Amino acid sequence: MCENNTEAAKKKVLSCIQPSGMLTLGNYLGALKNWVAMQEEFDCTYAVADLHAITVRQEPAKLRSQIYSTYALLLALGIDPEKHTVFIQSHVPEHSALSWLLSCNTQFGEMARMTQFKDKSAKHPENVNVGLFSYPVLMAADILLYKPDLVPVGHDQKQHLEIARDIAIRFNNKYGDVFTVPEPYIPKIGARVMSLQDPTKKMSKSDDNLNAWVAILDDRDTIIRKFKRAVTDSEAVVRMADEKPGISNLITIYSAVTGKTTQEVEKEFDGKGYGDFKLAVGEAVADTLNPIKERYDEIIKDKKALEQLYKEGANKAERVARKTYFKAMKKVGFVL
Ligand code: TRP
Repeated sequence: MCENNTEAAKKKVLSCIQPSGMLTLGNYLGALKNWVAMQEEFDCTYAVADLHAITVRQEPAKLRSQIYSTYALLLALGIDPEKHTVFIQSHVPEHSALSWLLSCNTQFGEMARMTQFKDKSAKHPENVNVGLFSYPVLMAADILLYKPDLVPVGHDQKQHLEIARDIAIRFNNKYGDVFTVPEPYIPKIGARVMSLQDPTKKMSKSDDNLNAWVAILDDRDTIIRKFKRAVTDSEAVVRMADEKPGISNLITIYSAVTGKTTQEVEKEFDGKGYGDFKLAVGEAVADTLNPIKERYDEIIKDKKALEQLYKEGANKAERVARKTYFKAMKKVGFVL
């Protein structure tokens, strides 16, 4: 790759994360670890997507504390609010405002075929609200306001990013050049972490079985205990194989946190039992996550300092967002 160290030449990256409860080891290894790594190479804008969270019912006090804790966690992971932009989505009103402009340029049929909408509305038939339906339009606004070159998203958000690109292309064709059409970014690192109790399913914090997932903020003993209970198989050989999803998942996790290749991991545990292996994975995960928890505990204690950071983050974000928003308004024909 061609290296150019001037700030202006850095590509821009944008991503957002919902403040919906505990973030897991899966979120860390699948996405957030990469958010941290991308800071080296790119100019990054990261947001806590709190407006997206209310498309499903939230308890106000709990939502508030989750917004705080998600923001604090981003800092604890090592995301640098001075060099990059880290903010809370609802603090920059241009997100909701642009979302309206884009809604009027998005077809009902386009939204109706979104698979996440179909899944979520089937899951919560008692609350199929209009926000849940138009959620991808707000996400398009999140993205397009900042003109990123790249948007790292997981598999479940690919379709939404595709729609954001379609909306941008159509808007530009109709009104003139306003938006940058972003590319999806598939990270070099990034592991798909499966449930510790049913390794054919993705690790998820909404799993009722608390042993199925590890929170980034779990303490050491809890992490080790959960790995000790992880579901494996009866072969007692530490090797990657399709028919061994439990052990394969543990190898993937161990390899992601230690930086060893899967072959190296297989070799390291050649002739050893699952008990030893599970303990080693638990300890390695705890060694990775515990320093994050320590920093988090410090950051969350100081609400004043946290407030100052998220306010500065919002100001920085809004300076960029406002320009794009007003340009779009003007092109559509509004009086400014
Ligand atoms: N919808 C995304 C999720 O649930 C979060 C999100 C909101 C997002 N806005 C975004 C991701 C913009 C990337 C870009 O994971």
